[in-house]
Amino acid sequence: MQSDSTPAPQVAGPSAAVAQPVVAPLTRAAIFLVVTINPDPSARPVIRSFLSDFSGLVRAVGFRDIEADLSCVVGIGFDAWRRLFGDPIPANLHPFREIRAGARHAVATPGDLLFHIRARRIDLCFELATLIMARIGPVVTPVDEVHGFRYFDDRDLLGFVDGTENPRDQAAADAALIGGEDPSFACGSYVIVQKYLHDLDGWNALSTETQERIIGRTKLADVELDDAVKPAYAHNALNTIEEDGKEVKILRDNMPFGRAASGEFGTYFIGYSRAPQRIERMLENMFIGRPPGNYDRILDFSRAVTGTLFFVPSATFLDNAAEDAAPDPALLAAPAAVRPAPSSTPGKDGSLGIGSLKEGTQHEKWRDPT
Ligand code: HEM
Repeated sequence: MQSDSTPAPQVAGPSAAVAQPVVAPLTRAAIFLVVTINPDPSARPVIRSFLSDFSGLVRAVGFRDIEADLSCVVGIGFDAWRRLFGDPIPANLHPFREIRAGARHAVATPGDLLFHIRARRIDLCFELATLIMARIGPVVTPVDEVHGFRYFDDRDLLGFVDGTENPRDQAAADAALIGGEDPSFACGSYVIVQKYLHDLDGWNALSTETQERIIGRTKLADVELDDAVKPAYAHNALNTIEEDGKEVKILRDNMPFGRAASGEFGTYFIGYSRAPQRIERMLENMFIGRPPGNYDRILDFSRAVTGTLFFVPSATFLDNAAEDAAPDPALLAAPAAVRPAPSSTPGKDGSLGIGSLKEGTQHEKWRDPT
């Protein structure tokens, strides 16, 4: 089975794995879909089989308009990883760590699977989300589905251009993809998502100059404020972090979303990193402050209503995710340490699995999962 057509970025360290399209081009549309896997043991083989067919599903929808650059990244949460694959667990995978500081709260919310669907056209995103749910709907519970759109010249609903300082090309792959530090999971990534709701009336009551000091960039021209005038609490100051004296980046693809009539205006934050600690440090800087108390003033006008960490395995791992045999119920109940390791060799016949897209086959399979 082949992987998604997005070319594999190069990463440091030897690896035959192909990455999921983490480093995909910015698109005009996205859907962020988060689900939990139902507790029934029959869910495990269904999800693993689905994951192994997944790249074929993306190709099937994407080929309907190849110019639209459809891509989808699948993330797997800590509990789900242990349940689906057991050991080994990616070195830095853990549940999202909530943060409370003053009135600010980075909440931790449930999520076993994340689908980050991107395309130039929302209809392709929607079609893929529909097919995903048609396939796994009976064994999952939806937690959140956000339809994001690009707003004018890549602005968030606060009115600022969002994404300017993202790393590009090889720098993006270096920031987001695991290399030799965790060889079993090379070309994987970690992703944190948070859904923020804005108090736009409060924000818009601020002067443009005050907003610019909070973000750390000018609003119209999107130029970074000079260090002489940029406050230590500026968003881009608190999110500039170093390791061993060198600045380290994460890869973001935030999207605005909203419902005008309901007064809902939001930013869906999504950040990829080869080490989740980097994003966690940024969150600490924003919510607690650097130093403590010098927090991010965006948070006076924005509330995080979700927060989840996922591991993004390589596309190669997903292609081989199916298990041949039905799970042993005794193993499912056992702690992760004694569970079998993920299959490292393909357990399938190498077909594209497109046959499983046929409705009849699907229903037959799901009503009587083995
Ligand atoms: C309400 C949610 C958020 C909004 C509206 C927002 C908006 C922005 C804007 C407008 C910029 C400046 C342009 C750019 O370089 O992209 C920016 C930069 C940045 N943001 Fe956010 N952001 C949000 C949440 C977050 C979170 C939760 C993190 C990390 C945990 C984060 C990390 C960063 C980083 C790393 C930069 C680039 C800093 C630099 O190198 O200059 N942002 N964000």
